[in-house]
Amino acid sequence: MQVEMEKRVVSRYALNLVKGVDILGLGSGTTVSAFVEELASSDLAEDLKVIPSSSQIESVARRNGLNVVDPSYGKPDLTIDGADEIDSELNLLKGGGGALVREKVLAVNSDYYVIIADHRKLVNRLCTKKPLPIEVLPYGVEWTRNLLEVVLNSKAVIRMNGESPFISDNGNYILDIRCEPLEDPSAVEKQLKLYPGVVDVGIFTELADEVLIAFGNEVKRLSPH
Ligand code: A5P
Repeated sequence: MQVEMEKRVVSRYALNLVKGVDILGLGSGTTVSAFVEELASSDLAEDLKVIPSSSQIESVARRNGLNVVDPSYGKPDLTIDGADEIDSELNLLKGGGGALVREKVLAVNSDYYVIIADHRKLVNRLCTKKPLPIEVLPYGVEWTRNLLEVVLNSKAVIRMNGESPFISDNGNYILDIRCEPLEDPSAVEKQLKLYPGVVDVGIFTELADEVLIAFGNEVKRLSPH
């Protein structure tokens, strides 16, 4: 399948950035999982320490024999992450896997933050195809949900895992908000973070140092500068 092939192509390309790196941050999701498998079968993995952003990618990393450490070990020289949508300014929509808070902590604290993606992830505006994920405290979740619905004039649903709410690695809930495509993602991010109950928002602005996108066998390197 083309998309799975593109995840491999971009993962192999990203290995070039890992040369000389001591501490590597790992985002979450299927694209980063493909990257972990490629990394594990390269000769770069032996001396490398990795800091996972979620229990999902931690188990992939451990299964593939990578040296997993926690954030107290040191800040990442580089973090490789995925995204749900990427706009033309390289703003990101994230949180499809529910790992947005730890991914943002890694992004902010890494020397270099790189997104790898297949071609489907490029959009004109964030929230074109996917809802906006927001991590919220379980305490008073219905109040927070109602408040965000009014603020964004959009429907918000609590993400479910079968019959029960999905619980993030931080013990929180995720609200998915079906909003209109965002004209000013940075303003929306800042505004939503003001509400108590909101832990963080799946909008990442001015964080990506580079975005690598696979189009078939080709990789396009996009940078904000
Ligand atoms: C995890 O919460 C997300 O931010 C992921 O980075 C994003 O969902 C990308 O996942 P895929 O690589 O599986 O599309």
